[in-house]
Amino acid sequence: MATGYRDLREYIAFLERKGDLHRVATPVTWDLEITEIADRVVKRGGPALLFEHVAGSTMPVFINMFGTRQRMAWALGVEDIEELAHRVRELLAMMQVPPLGVRAKLSALGELVHLASFRPKTVHSGPCQDLVLTGEEVDLLRIPVLKCWPLDAGRFITLPLVITNDPVTGERNVGTYRMQVYDRCTAGMHWQAQKVGTHHLRLAQDRGVQRLDVAVVLGGDPATIWTGSAPLPPGLDEILLAGFIRQERVEMVPCQTIQLEVPAQAEFVLEGYVVPGETRTEGPFGDHTGYYSLAEQYPVFHVTAVTHRRNPIYPATIVGRPLTEDYYMGKVTERIFLPIIQLALPEVADINMPAEGVFHNLVIVSIKKEYPGQAHKVMHALWGLGLLALAKTVIVVDHTVNVHDLSEVAWRVTGNIDPARDVVLASGPLDDLDHASPTPQFGSKMGIDATTKGPLESRQRPWPPDIVMAPEIVALVDRKWKEYGLT
Ligand SMILES: Cc1cc2nc3c(=O)[nH]c(=O)nc-3n(C[C@H](O)[C@H](O)[C@H](O)COP(=O)(O)O)c2cc1C
Repeated sequence: MATGYRDLREYIAFLERKGDLHRVATPVTWDLEITEIADRVVKRGGPALLFEHVAGSTMPVFINMFGTRQRMAWALGVEDIEELAHRVRELLAMMQVPPLGVRAKLSALGELVHLASFRPKTVHSGPCQDLVLTGEEVDLLRIPVLKCWPLDAGRFITLPLVITNDPVTGERNVGTYRMQVYDRCTAGMHWQAQKVGTHHLRLAQDRGVQRLDVAVVLGGDPATIWTGSAPLPPGLDEILLAGFIRQERVEMVPCQTIQLEVPAQAEFVLEGYVVPGETRTEGPFGDHTGYYSLAEQYPVFHVTAVTHRRNPIYPATIVGRPLTEDYYMGKVTERIFLPIIQLALPEVADINMPAEGVFHNLVIVSIKKEYPGQAHKVMHALWGLGLLALAKTVIVVDHTVNVHDLSEVAWRVTGNIDPARDVVLASGPLDDLDHASPTPQFGSKMGIDATTKGPLESRQRPWPPDIVMAPEIVALVDRKWKEYGLT
């Protein structure tokens, strides 16, 4: 059985006991070689990898920590990620209980207290500050940061937790945004237009703040690492979510040179700041779309201190042509956000963001349709819901369709649509990584209504029934199967 982990080391030990960790003792280089190995391993569902000897560094590299559905679940302390979706559903149900009776009130209150009991806990010291390096001692080039793909502009930190506080409310945000290392003490900050880090920077600029404090955390317990990728709305603390997932509070320690707190059990913390208005060319970078993101202007991160454990382990991931490790990270988001989407859209039965669609290119949703035009309503509602606003293609099918079976989806969609009637074109914000739109960040979107159509949906002919064998014949053939001599 999986459990919560105090830090990355406990998780690595757990994977080793499960036979799901491979140690590579042969010397390797951070320059493309680790990517080629990790890419082959993730694509065949292989183990997490700990590279013990990386040229030019004394620090090992840990990669592919979330790279299968099973390992992703273990990282979050469960056997199957559906267990977490169930827990979220239970929590939402408790919080919605109308306060009619004393018992209902008490249990809703109990659940809120329960949630509050996972609040981050401030401690005064932690192993992430075993060593504190400032001034001339700061040197990002000592860390075995990977150059991932041949046309990459340089070495990129790929699995950081970037922490900022809202300059107005003080509320914390944690996001995973890749960072190009420029030199010993500066790096690019790949904050895309719609992300919360960018929002904090805009607020800082509007208020004339000279420097926005930023902490970049590497490592820690795997649930906390995962929360950086979760699209929580501003104001909802990722560290609280990590506590809820682990069923244990995350210990946070104040930084040494900036006004932020960071997970005490991390491997490394890069403390620093971003100056509003300052940008520098970032990229190209071989991205999770399977294409290079081209060079663009992004903010610059200045390091004021590097703190780390004794003998730190550098955690990394690689992206590239799907399927890569981030697919499993995104699947958790899809599963645990489904109950939340269903609060706004109760007709939604299921949702799938397949690896090929790299999250923002394709969302397949099934609905229990009750009235004409409902599929259109669902598309537009999804385009107004958090980061689903970036979805380029939304396909809506009936609830009887298995959205996870791409063969069934292709069959139903192509059979069920009259393109002139059922394809909806809209426009709106796009992911920075979209390379097809004429201009960055804004462009067109397509909704496909592949649900069954009724007479009020510009269609007078009856809808044909699915071909399904009579149940008594199915039972008869089941009974006689061996007699036919077929295996
Ligand atoms: C491995 C990985 C790398 C990512 N890199 C970036 C990135 O460079 N820039 C970005 O804006 N989002 C990136 N994301 C997506 C964000 O982490 C995700 O949208 C998250 O919700 C952002 O947090 P926020 O909603 O608090 O802004 C990445 C996600 C993963 C899993």
